Amino acid sequence: MKPRVLLTRRVPATVYRRLEEACEVDLHGEAAAIPGDELRRRVADKDALLCLLTDRVDREVLEAAPRLKIVANIAVGYDNVDVASAAARGIVVTNTPEVLTEATAELTWALILAATRRIAEGDRAVRAGRWGGWALDYMLGMQLSGKQLGVIGLGRIGTAVASRAPAFGMSVAAASLPGQPVSPSGGVPLPPIVTVPLDELLRTSDVVTLHVPLTPDTRHLIDRPRLARMKRSAYLVNTSRGPVVDEEALAWALGERLIAGAALDVYEREPLVHPALLPLDNVVLAPHLGSATTETRTAMADLAVSNVLEVLAGRPPLTPVHP
Ligand code: GLV
Repeated sequence: MKPRVLLTRRVPATVYRRLEEACEVDLHGEAAAIPGDELRRRVADKDALLCLLTDRVDREVLEAAPRLKIVANIAVGYDNVDVASAAARGIVVTNTPEVLTEATAELTWALILAATRRIAEGDRAVRAGRWGGWALDYMLGMQLSGKQLGVIGLGRIGTAVASRAPAFGMSVAAASLPGQPVSPSGGVPLPPIVTVPLDELLRTSDVVTLHVPLTPDTRHLIDRPRLARMKRSAYLVNTSRGPVVDEEALAWALGERLIAGAALDVYEREPLVHPALLPLDNVVLAPHLGSATTETRTAMADLAVSNVLEVLAGRPPLTPVHP
């Protein structure tokens, strides 16, 4: 009998076929996330769970699945999975590192440019018929060339973002948080990076970009006091996880013009956005698109399926995460 897999969202057809050849697949094919009670019910007789960052895989889900051998998250972040409970039950948890690094770094730069050059705000003005034509002082932004990029979290994605800074004439400062690895550049040419304490990075950077995982230590890492430490002319960009930034504090800092602007791809309670952010023109709001390219999403699903197939065949997973 083939092993049974619960797949909580459609994946590209080529990837699905690989899974289906080796496993009996129970697909939740709806656009909306699988409800928690349905997840617990459908995972009960499964050997593997292929899930998304929008699925909460907590202790109750794991306890409901006595046969489960692997939770393969189709995401690099895995704060949605109770990794400690999984480890205690001998269940492997895997994520999808590397394959989304470039796409997420590109999206980060798209947001840096959108925020500093007011692209979304300008688009709204044009569509609303509020553009009166070229003027010397109309919708001025901040030039990147000659400025400092502050990278918080110099892992794979932070490193890839930093490596693109010379293309825009920016210098790079980085703050790594305790316990977090500094990834090797992987052959990518890196600009000189000065490593500074977090508060100094906030005080001196013109664009601050966040690339840390969500952990108890990084929840609300950017709060009121830290926002107040930033330059009034600076921008904050978050493509990591929403709760790393206290959204209410950010809305306050943007509203008071304590910082010039921000761009967010992630939110504290997705898909909800803090209502105080919505009326602000100096924040760009993207709908969690970091890895959203056809190439990358296919590669993520493919890697997650490979992890499932390896573990179900009794071999070590390719990209395990550890508690
Ligand atoms: C996306 O946010 C991911 O963690 O892959």
